[in-house]
Amino acid sequence: HPHIAYRGDALYIEQRPLAELAAQHGTPLFVYSKASMLSALGAYQRGFAGRKAQICYAMKANSTLGVLQVFAQAGCGFDIVSGGELERVLAAGAEPGKVIFSGVGKTRAEMRRALEVGIGCFNVESEGELEVLSEVAQATGRRAPVSIRVNPNVDPKTHPYISTGLKGSKFGVAHEDALRIYQRAAALPGLAVVGIDCHIGSQITEETPYLDAMDRMLDLVTTIEAAGIALHHIDFGGGLGIDYRGDTPPEADVLWHKLLAKIDARGYGDRLLMIEPGRSLVGNAGVCVTEVLYLKPGEQKSFCVIDAAMNELPRPAMYQAFHRIEPVSPRHGQTTVYDVVGPICESGDWIGRDRELGVAPGDLLAVFSAGAYCMSMASNYNTRGRPAELLVDGDQAHLIRERESTADQTRLERLVG
Ligand code: LLP
Repeated sequence: HPHIAYRGDALYIEQRPLAELAAQHGTPLFVYSKASMLSALGAYQRGFAGRKAQICYAMKANSTLGVLQVFAQAGCGFDIVSGGELERVLAAGAEPGKVIFSGVGKTRAEMRRALEVGIGCFNVESEGELEVLSEVAQATGRRAPVSIRVNPNVDPKTHPYISTGLKGSKFGVAHEDALRIYQRAAALPGLAVVGIDCHIGSQITEETPYLDAMDRMLDLVTTIEAAGIALHHIDFGGGLGIDYRGDTPPEADVLWHKLLAKIDARGYGDRLLMIEPGRSLVGNAGVCVTEVLYLKPGEQKSFCVIDAAMNELPRPAMYQAFHRIEPVSPRHGQTTVYDVVGPICESGDWIGRDRELGVAPGDLLAVFSAGAYCMSMASNYNTRGRPAELLVDGDQAHLIRERESTADQTRLERLVG
């Protein structure tokens, strides 16, 4: 990670030592590198150079306003999945026309609001949703721009919880039903068919699933257009993986070079191309800095208890995910193998297993690859306040979220009587 690296014995993010930021803001603390986000975005932009393309950051990966602002200022669109996400992107300065709305369970109220602000496209996931959206749009006197999420039925070879494009998943419509459902959409009075979309899964580290999915999608484009329904854009979803533990996902520009060759070969190079990357834009731009509270040596296992936990770093507990954990100021000398665990009263509250560390209480550790699906999935379990977040830009560190207080947490609660 070029933007988060040691200089001598101190871990820096861009021009700032993490130890100094932790001393100022306390721990646990999330710190993001703006340059790292822009460099990840740059790989996609290079891939699409000279093309009609729209990169819609899948904001569920990290929806903090200060992070959204970076992508809005860089000209990105956004992939949203709720009314709440819509209000967040608007607050961060997004152009509504560049917002696309995914998700299997959009409510009428969410549809109405999205129509009212003029979002770019609804990525519809079922026939039932098409009918409702058409009704809602008619009632507001507008036509809703729609794309239908189709399952290419390829195996993304990732964790089952984050694999979404297979038959039998709750997402999208089956490949073989797509034409019929497109014809239904084209006939509904409140809808304007504008595109087609898919999303096959997340943390994909091989290129074959993408290449196969593209073939299957382009077959469908041909079938649907032969039936007289024009598709103005092709949205290929997100899912590109990052390096958590020596993973070697394809580079965005290299992958797109190959995907574009397929698109061109079929004569669709003139279409607007859209993508919905989340993790690959922010995942490795962030670290969580945490303090070692206690060391518990044991016969079977030794534990390193830290002040961060599964409420802000939920991925190990949920997906047995691996996050690299390194000392912010390495000691030289003896190391011990620890399970790195949080203070929460659950055995599932571990952050790393069998990690060789040379640490003492009071030391700081950095949990890497914490930019995506950490703070956006954080909870208040055990009445833990969510951490503060900093955005570092060169030598500037901007506080983009204050640490949550207990008063913040109980603000909406009422005692009885
Ligand atoms: N588009 C759609 C329709 C999606 O459902 C998702 C992610 C994305 C785009 C962005 O995917 P990405 O580029 O980030 O892989 N919490 C899990 C990941 C869940 C992904 C859900 N959908 C994790 O921490 O690994």
